[in-house]
Amino acid sequence: MSDIQYAPINHLDESAMLPLMKEERQMWLADLDWDYSAIQQILLPLIGQKMLPGYAAFTGGRQPSGYIYFLANREKGSIGALYTMPADNAQKAAEGLVELAIACLQDSGGIRRVEAQIFPFHGQNYERIFSKYGFRHYPRVYLVRNIDAGIAEKEPASPAKIIPWDSTLISRAAGMTTACYREHIDYEILEDYHTPENCENYLRGLVTNPGCGVFLPDASFICLDGQENICGYVICSRISDRRALIPQIAAHPAWQGRGLGAALMNRCLRRLRSMNFRSISLVVTSENSRACEWYQRMGFQPHREFGAFTWNRS
Ligand SMILES: CC(C)(COP(=O)(O)OP(=O)(O)OC[C@H]1O[C@@H](n2cnc3c(N)ncnc32)[C@H](O)[C@@H]1OP(=O)(O)O)[C@@H](O)C(=O)NCCC(=O)NCCS
Repeated sequence: MSDIQYAPINHLDESAMLPLMKEERQMWLADLDWDYSAIQQILLPLIGQKMLPGYAAFTGGRQPSGYIYFLANREKGSIGALYTMPADNAQKAAEGLVELAIACLQDSGGIRRVEAQIFPFHGQNYERIFSKYGFRHYPRVYLVRNIDAGIAEKEPASPAKIIPWDSTLISRAAGMTTACYREHIDYEILEDYHTPENCENYLRGLVTNPGCGVFLPDASFICLDGQENICGYVICSRISDRRALIPQIAAHPAWQGRGLGAALMNRCLRRLRSMNFRSISLVVTSENSRACEWYQRMGFQPHREFGAFTWNRS
């Protein structure tokens, strides 16, 4: 008999998950300065109502020592959190959880695509298990910058101008974002970039759900060109009292390389400094070498690597 047992999360009481989720929260805070409690506050009631699809692993006790959850939205499945406490067999338990989640999603004929982006803790690595089930792997990097490092006073090239964030412009920002990512490596990672409708839902999610941090409208900005069309924007969120995150920054292809991205970034950094944030982070796909080099020139340093994984039904 295997030393690891698995059970659907829906068979567990919410209280049984608390110690595991507490440790997960501590790891996110210690390693990424990311207060994961905003996300867990959404997950816990779903667990209580037996409405969160996922599995728990038991590696030698009656308390779960690992869990995974996943969601299905129309034809797309997404793997949400995966976390296992440190133990000799933690990697094996994590791989078992991934296998169960993938089987559930791939065996459901309605699911055409599955996406996952997972930060591994305790030295774990999920590349082997995802590739075993036909997933493509895209290495990504979590970058961090101190807010106190120098901030340039750049403004965008005339006639572009930066205005405060305005959520009524989201559908126009979505159209611009789709154009930005058409020939981009991230187009393969996130189906949200494929159509303006998907992109609008994704941007609305960023400003309403805490999955990528709690939206900070005061540190988010839009750039308009001479005809008042959106030519760039930056969305910023709070992931802890000290650290902010940029889940999205984009410049219209016609404007790229003209200083607009730097002007948006610097405006955001200055606002965060006035709000007493200490550091800022963002995620970039390693293959996006121009953006990687640009972020490093803007003072961001690589902190942690992780993987994005995608699977398409053939
Ligand atoms: C990355 C991005 C926001 C930078 O904005 P920008 O207005 O082009 O940036 P700036 O003009 O201030 O700086 C230009 C630098 O950005 C980098 N860059 C990254 N992608 C670029 C692109 N597609 N075109 C031009 N420059 C790009 C280059 O290093 C460039 O420096 P260089 O001119 O010395 O090569 C913008 O190019 C963009 O939207 N790219 C597509 C979407 C994207 O990759 N977003 C980041 C995902 S994490």
